[in-house]
Amino acid sequence: MLLGLQGLKRSSTLLPRAAEVVSRVVTTSAPAEAAKVNVAASKSALMREFQVYRWDPDNGTDKPTYKSYNIDVNSCGPMMLDVLFKIKDEQESGLAFRRSCREGICGSCAMNIDGRNGLACLTKVERDPNTVSKIAPLPHMFVVKDLVVDMSNFYAQYKSIQPFLKKKEDSTIEGKEYHQTKEDRTKLDGLYECILCACCSTACPSYWWNEDKYLGPAVLLQAYRWIVDSRDDFTQERIKQLDDAYKLYRCHTIMNCAKVCPKGLNPGKAIQKIKQSTHGGVPI
Ligand code: SF4
Ligand code: F3S
Ligand code: FES
Repeated sequence: MLLGLQGLKRSSTLLPRAAEVVSRVVTTSAPAEAAKVNVAASKSALMREFQVYRWDPDNGTDKPTYKSYNIDVNSCGPMMLDVLFKIKDEQESGLAFRRSCREGICGSCAMNIDGRNGLACLTKVERDPNTVSKIAPLPHMFVVKDLVVDMSNFYAQYKSIQPFLKKKEDSTIEGKEYHQTKEDRTKLDGLYECILCACCSTACPSYWWNEDKYLGPAVLLQAYRWIVDSRDDFTQERIKQLDDAYKLYRCHTIMNCAKVCPKGLNPGKAIQKIKQSTHGGVPI
């Protein structure tokens, strides 16, 4: 069990409930003198319902709920993050969610959108007014507040694989570079792009049930990234550290990880390569 998480709630993977659909089309008649006003402002409103997971540890109530917000999706940007900002700016200033880059780079806006893990800043909002979107925290994570989950365990696991270049020789010579061939550099493709959003790990049933012992697809993909780096001198030590019934072998090739990765990576494949390495295979 994680330390310091008393009072936090587990998020769940509830599927969207049948919910009342609020659909309302409002037509605005632009006066002639407003012709110069930008096009977006003169568009008809397109109202959609968004149900957002809410839980505040400080409000005294114990139960998380889904709260509905009706949003004119013609008056904000096209992504789910734009909708969340609109809700926060205009209806619910206390709504908590993480974001930084809004470009699919920082990985902080990962959440469960309509039953699938993804990045809010890269997930386009459905335009059909007869549908309802449901937005929840990453599944099976302790919730700090609303859509913000506790990532402490995830980062501790990441730290445990020593995600940095390790050399056996003295590498303190200032300005020294470690070169690698183009072929060796190519081996990092499909690995270095990982942004540690945790969409894959929190979509993995094995990780749901053993998150304290199983490293999960994101951390194992990162571990493999250092195993195959030709410049690293600790390849065998890294493999030996992972050769464990829980850390590595709790992966049962379910492959949810590859389905949800917003960067199109395949952590399941990287895990298979590590497994082969623990049996004497060459880590390529
Ligand atoms: Fe996110 Fe993909 Fe990295 Fe997993 S492998 S943490 S889903 S970027
Ligand atoms: Fe999980 Fe992916 Fe393995 S979903 S079980 S880490 S292949
Ligand atoms: Fe950075 Fe979405 S805000 S990935």
